[in-house]
Amino acid sequence: MRRPIVAGNWKLHGSRAENARLVEEIMAQVPSKPAGQCIVCPPLVYLQEVGRLLRGSSVELGAQDVCAETQGAFTGEVSAAMLKDVGCEYVIVGHSERRLIYRESDQLIARKFQAAQSKSMVPILCLGEQLAERDADRTKEVVGRQLDAVLELAGIDAFAHAVIAYEPVWAIGTGRNATPDQAQDVHAFIRARLQARNAKIAAETRVLYGGSVKAGNAAELFAMPDVDGGLIGGASLKADEFLAILAAARPH
Ligand code: PGA
Repeated sequence: MRRPIVAGNWKLHGSRAENARLVEEIMAQVPSKPAGQCIVCPPLVYLQEVGRLLRGSSVELGAQDVCAETQGAFTGEVSAAMLKDVGCEYVIVGHSERRLIYRESDQLIARKFQAAQSKSMVPILCLGEQLAERDADRTKEVVGRQLDAVLELAGIDAFAHAVIAYEPVWAIGTGRNATPDQAQDVHAFIRARLQARNAKIAAETRVLYGGSVKAGNAAELFAMPDVDGGLIGGASLKADEFLAILAAARPH
């Protein structure tokens, strides 16, 4: 059985006061033993404080990005050891906003994945095609290439301690989610690609869906056999909405 995950990616939102309010609202309502694992990923500068606020709750802490390097002259970067030091257990790598706006390559993302694991954090590896790629029927080619870059560097065994998030770029922040069938099709493709290398790891790896998940569409997406929860952007900033999504998570 795969325990589902609902992870909130706060992106570039919040302030100390807003975070405190959001965390308080989440903690007031989150079950002590939810069916799904619940993770929040605040901006870097707030990680330590949000981690402190979450202490004693079932909600876990993740970061939105990590430097591929361990230390040295890399102005503005934050290492995996530093994230671990302030209490992070998870880190998103390869979000499409990092790939597209900050030009991160498949190879750099694979190195970030390894950097996270080298400090015993669980990377949440994001994969996903752009609209033009879907329209050109290249979804699986693109997602396969993004996944293979990590498999080549880190190997299949690394996926025993990793989470994958399929996030079609055209569905992120657009209000236009993939249909449950579209999501399932790509999730099954991702799992099959892992399965070709190791059936046990493939069967155990959580593959989340991300892109305009809301309380109103979460249940039908999470009901699909290869959808193991979600990576939530906009809707993770509202406690009621986020917790309703968490409540829709089902083990498969
Ligand atoms: P969204 O973002 O839920 O606002 O579409 C998802 C994500 O980017 O992880």
